[in-house]
Amino acid sequence: MPVTDSIDPSDQPDPAQMQLTPDGNLRHLLTLRGLEKNLLSQLLDLSEDFLSPLGESAVRSDQLKGRTIANLFFEPSTRTRASFELAAKRLGAEVLNLDVNTSSRIKGESILDTIYTLQAMQIDVFVVRDAGAGIPAYIARHVDPYISILNAGEADVSHPTQGLLDLLTIRRHKSDFENLKVVIVGDIAHSRVARSAVEGLTTMGVGELHLVSPPALAPDPVTMRGATISHDLDKSICDADVIMALRIQRERIDNLQDVPNVEDYFSNYGISRARMQRAAPDAIVMHPGPMNRGIEIESEVADGPQSAITRQVQNGVAVRMALLTAVVETLGTR
Ligand code: CP
Repeated sequence: MPVTDSIDPSDQPDPAQMQLTPDGNLRHLLTLRGLEKNLLSQLLDLSEDFLSPLGESAVRSDQLKGRTIANLFFEPSTRTRASFELAAKRLGAEVLNLDVNTSSRIKGESILDTIYTLQAMQIDVFVVRDAGAGIPAYIARHVDPYISILNAGEADVSHPTQGLLDLLTIRRHKSDFENLKVVIVGDIAHSRVARSAVEGLTTMGVGELHLVSPPALAPDPVTMRGATISHDLDKSICDADVIMALRIQRERIDNLQDVPNVEDYFSNYGISRARMQRAAPDAIVMHPGPMNRGIEIESEVADGPQSAITRQVQNGVAVRMALLTAVVETLGTR
């Protein structure tokens, strides 16, 4: 395994203050926190331009011709990594996918030395996933001014591109946010997906936002302002318009004894057809993946007519195309 750079996020500048240029253009995407509704809406609008119906050819352009995007995933990924690679290639960029397990990080090279090495090879955008809190902002602070950093998943702190694709998926199914009841259920305590969803949905003015988990997996309420926290899914799911199921993040839990067993978890927190009867009749079901069928979601729901899960994946490519074009445009104006 690569060494994990140990930094204290509380010693770092606030990532929310580091992502825009003085004239308000997106330079890095480190967190959804602090981004205004207008900017989020613009990014969602831009993402729409990169969508085409499933079964038709994907949207392609040469907007990123001459640019180089580096994917640095120091944690596993299928969806985020593949969609960033496809997004960059469909925009005409060169793509470097660093294989972390055969990189010199295994020999103890720090993440910053890895970045400086690749920076010398004229990378324009680094896409970074890391298990360490604060790493994307730490890198953003140290790179040259003509380079952008996109956070592709940071510890249990933030997953802003997932948050944007979730907003896009909800907006495409439900048009507005103000009249919606959204329920996020699962291991909220360890979920960067939940944190970015809360940040994005509250900025967009969601009507009601409920976070439901077993008591042992409940979040710190201070980090989830604007949401109602509960442990009773059967009550919270009533008349919900959007239900997002999350997996239990075992890799981030020190004491697994506190986690309910699979049967208890499904019985109390699993999204089943029976439980969906309580939600609004046109409710959609989302899941960021990877899914554990039969634990947090029943297969009949995951594959059923109310599932928006494959749409989330499709929207993920469009959102990442939009972000790459936005930050490269900002770099071009510097
Ligand atoms: N949703 C998500 O981040 O999935 P991956 O871990 O497969 O990228």
